[in-house]
Amino acid sequence: MQKKTLVTFNRVSLAYRTDEEIFWDLSLNFNSGAFYFLTGSSGSGKTSLLKLIYMDVMPTQGSVTVLGHDSLSITQRQIPYLRQKIGMVFQDCYMLNHLTLIENVALPLRIRGLNKEQALYNASEMLSWVGLSRYINHYPDVLSGGQKQRAAVARAVINRPLFLLADEPTGNVDKENAVRILHLFEELHKRGTTVIFATHDRSLAASYPYPELLIKDKKIQMNEKTAKRYHGLMSQNMENEVSSQASRSNVIIGSDVGYKKR
Ligand SMILES: Nc1ncnc2c1ncn2[C@@H]1O[C@H](COP(=O)(O)OP(=O)(O)OP(=O)(O)O)[C@@H](O)[C@H]1O
Ligand SMILES: [Mg+2]
Repeated sequence: MQKKTLVTFNRVSLAYRTDEEIFWDLSLNFNSGAFYFLTGSSGSGKTSLLKLIYMDVMPTQGSVTVLGHDSLSITQRQIPYLRQKIGMVFQDCYMLNHLTLIENVALPLRIRGLNKEQALYNASEMLSWVGLSRYINHYPDVLSGGQKQRAAVARAVINRPLFLLADEPTGNVDKENAVRILHLFEELHKRGTTVIFATHDRSLAASYPYPELLIKDKKIQMNEKTAKRYHGLMSQNMENEVSSQASRSNVIIGSDVGYKKR
């Protein structure tokens, strides 16, 4: 079965300042249905690469195509529609401080047109899954960094996006919550979400059977060992996916989340 390409980098260079390129002549594809770790030292360009996909920054040279939209031709008006299809966990969380936690998490559902009651119900279920039931009516500025991060994860996945970009989503949380967040992403991935998980923690990436894309010297290197294991896993997942189509439950992220598939 041929894999669909979700994102294409075509000879991309990025420089915030004229004298310093972050990426140079970068060409690569991200396949639909895959799970990628994106690693690299602090300042190497992980956030920048995710921002290129989110069309928050545009390449200095070359082009990025995301879900059929090309950075060279997309209009400012089209960008929010593209972003509605992408779940993004920002490194800085970006919670809206005038909204409570539950309102923040329900927001993507409200934007999609879900009624308020259902959106709040789903948001409270999701917040409970990330261990924040007690805080649903709190405002973000009274939360710890790790709590904010878990809320940001809840907000990014509430819409069950086809595509999830997670920028250091476990950077501020303890081991137990990190494993829980990874498990949540794996559940989404099993059900078809493409995941790009940026982390500076290469040992975390090494402990999962997904390919690691390492940013080094303005380019991306793929760890071959994980790539081989990953290809085996992908074909198995695809087989499982086909055979389990008929018997799938309509609960998407484990029974304790309880929200329904679209
Ligand atoms: N808006 C900006 N203007 C100018 N320089 C920037 C901007 N954003 C990032 N940079 C620079 O680009 C480089 C890559 O930054 P980026 O945030 O992508 O790295 P990162 O790998 O995500 O780092 P970290 O692990 O610390 O989050 C850094 O040198 C940073 O200073
Ligand atoms: Mg970063």
